[in-house]
Amino acid sequence: MSIREIAQLGNDALRIVAEQVADINAPEIQQVINDLLCTLEDTSGVGIAAPQIAESWQIIVLASKPTPRYPEAPDMPVTVMINPSFTPLGAETEKDWEGCLSIPSIRAKVPRYKLIKISYTNQQGLLESSELEGFVARVFQHEYDHLNGLLYLDRVETNQDIFSESEYLKQIAP
Ligand code: NI
Repeated sequence: MSIREIAQLGNDALRIVAEQVADINAPEIQQVINDLLCTLEDTSGVGIAAPQIAESWQIIVLASKPTPRYPEAPDMPVTVMINPSFTPLGAETEKDWEGCLSIPSIRAKVPRYKLIKISYTNQQGLLESSELEGFVARVFQHEYDHLNGLLYLDRVETNQDIFSESEYLKQIAP
């Protein structure tokens, strides 16, 4: 397990559509999963996607917990999701603040589906599905976008919804 460098905005690795994982037990895949867990733990982030460590595989980790970056985040177990997919439950979206380890010092308001049904293969190779809402649904949709070469800034409705982190901390979440 090692802490990997996080690809930063402008890096091609963030703009590639990631490959489906065929063999979860392949040593390369297990290494990617372990490195993702290790790298995320080293940050105050609440999720990470394999392309962020320049590994183009459909693997994300969700780990919502209250952190200095997201003090209001609900606690959930660290969850590895392989080949994840989702469908919105209803058309309702809400706009709220996001940040990204690949885009330091910036926060922006992003519209996301409020309620979604997700499915994925877990680390044991079993198919799982569940419903997510609110903040955790938002984190899932953010990480899922990384697997398709999308970043949250691509979804911002107006440049006025983009803040420097220092202004965000002053005005929105002091
Ligand atoms: Ni991100």
